[in-house]
Amino acid sequence: MLEVAGLEASYGRARVLFGVDLTVEAGQLLCVMGRNGVGKTTLLNSIMGVLAPAAGTVVFDGEDVTRVPTYERVRRGMGYVPQGHETFPQLTVAENLQVTLEASRHRDRSAIDEALDVFPGLKELLTRRAGFLSGGQQQQLAIARALVTRPRLLILDEPTEGIQPSIVVEIEQAVERLHREAGLAVLLVEQYLDLALRLADAFVIIEGGAVQHSGTADDLRDDQVKRLLAI
Ligand SMILES: Nc1ncnc2c1ncn2[C@@H]1O[C@H](COP(=O)(O)OP(=O)(O)O)[C@@H](O)[C@H]1O
Ligand SMILES: [Mg+2]
Repeated sequence: MLEVAGLEASYGRARVLFGVDLTVEAGQLLCVMGRNGVGKTTLLNSIMGVLAPAAGTVVFDGEDVTRVPTYERVRRGMGYVPQGHETFPQLTVAENLQVTLEASRHRDRSAIDEALDVFPGLKELLTRRAGFLSGGQQQQLAIARALVTRPRLLILDEPTEGIQPSIVVEIEQAVERLHREAGLAVLLVEQYLDLALRLADAFVIIEGGAVQHSGTADDLRDDQVKRLLAI
C-alpha cells in the first residue's frame, strides 16, 4: 500500500534522512520507533510531501506520489495526523470537521458521523472552539478530521505524546478498532513501547538517518531493540 525507498531529507545543509526504506502492507499497522530527534517527523512529513525529499520515492497504491502535492495525497487516501494535535483553534469542533469534509474528495456528510462515532466524547463538544479543548480532546479531533477524509492509510505522529492517560486509552482503542475491525492500514510513530507492542504488526527503528532494525511485534521484545531505543 505504501512503499518508501531511498528517502533522503535535509534542512538546508543538515541532512537528517540518509535513505529510508519501508513498506506498509494493506491492512498492516507499522510502528516507526527511534529516539528523539532521529527524524521520525521528518520522515512522515517527507512521505506526505509537506517536506520535499532530497532523494527517494514514495509510492502509494502503486502510484508514484513523490511529486504529488500534499492535499492530493490526502484526497487519494493518505490521512495524516501531524505531531502536536493540530486543529483550527478558532473554529468549533463541528466546523473543524466540516471544513475537512469540504476539502475531501467524497463530500459525504455521513463521514462526520462515522468519525464522531470513533470518539463519542467529541459529540458533547461540537460547539466548543478547538482551542479551548484539552490536549487529549484536540488530539481526538485531529484524528477525527483525518478520518473524515476516509483514508485507506492513516499516518499518526506520536498521537499519545503529552496526553492525559484516560484519553491515551481511548486513542489506543480507537486505533486498534480502526485497524483490526475496519482493516485500516496505519503508519504510527510511537515512543511508548507498551502501546507499540500491543498495536503493531511490524516495526522499524530509525537511527543514523536510516532503518537500523525491523521486524514483527515479537522482535520488539528483543534486548538489541531496547538498546537501540535506549530503554
Ligand atoms: N524545521 C526544521 N529546521 C531545521 N532542523 C529541523 C527542523 N525540524 C527538525 N529539525 C531537526 O531534524 C532532526 C530530526 O527532527 P525530527 O524529524 O523532528 O525528529 P523526531 O521526530 O524523530 O524527534 C533534529 O535534529 C531536528 O532538530
Ligand atoms: Mg517527532
